[in-house]
Amino acid sequence: MKITYFGHNSFSIEIKGKNILIDPFISGSPLVNGKINILDLKADYILLTHAHQDHTLDAEAIAKNTGAVIVSNFEIATHYENKGITVHPMNHGGSWEFGFGKVKYVNAIHTSSFPDGSYGGQPGGFVIEGEHKNIYIAGDTALTLDMKLIPLRTKLDLAILPIGDNFTMGIDDAIIASNFVECDKILGCHFDTFGYIEIDHEEAKRKFYKAGKDLMLLEVGESIEL
Ligand code: NI
Ligand code: MN
Repeated sequence: MKITYFGHNSFSIEIKGKNILIDPFISGSPLVNGKINILDLKADYILLTHAHQDHTLDAEAIAKNTGAVIVSNFEIATHYENKGITVHPMNHGGSWEFGFGKVKYVNAIHTSSFPDGSYGGQPGGFVIEGEHKNIYIAGDTALTLDMKLIPLRTKLDLAILPIGDNFTMGIDDAIIASNFVECDKILGCHFDTFGYIEIDHEEAKRKFYKAGKDLMLLEVGESIEL
């Protein structure tokens, strides 16, 4: 499993030869700053955690360019289906076997409206049980006790957690979240994109290290192999 970071909550995950794109916010991202052309991106599936623009901005263009299937909650899936895009609707607590792995849509505490104010369903995160490795993508969320449910079903190898504070968990709550999901390997996201969510990288890594955890912070375009 190869994971590439495109800034904010945007990732590409390669599993079994399939490209799964998470929350594509690339063309308008100050972190990307024009360094990535969205038309160069490969995608078989696009997973959207919620409807906010900093998670969905490029979903339509990439889906139309690649023919990727958009996977999200029922309301978001319907929004894109009405634009002629192939979708797979899910809702909280439900799982589906997609061939590259099993995907579960799980709870997140946040909001979820489209830029025009229309309803984007309830926000969520994803648990992906891929080939040999399992990952949790929290999406935008507060720390929540519901995270304790995840390890009851899935032994995680990696948790992708927001750490930027203000709109989501900050570093200290994300450390507690990593305990709740019983995972020591954390990939940080949703930081440094805007002034509200700038973090001190060294302090963040030090705090996770003191808690017995490994926090990885990637540069835009950087990949890790799981
Ligand atoms: Ni959001
Ligand atoms: Mn966000």
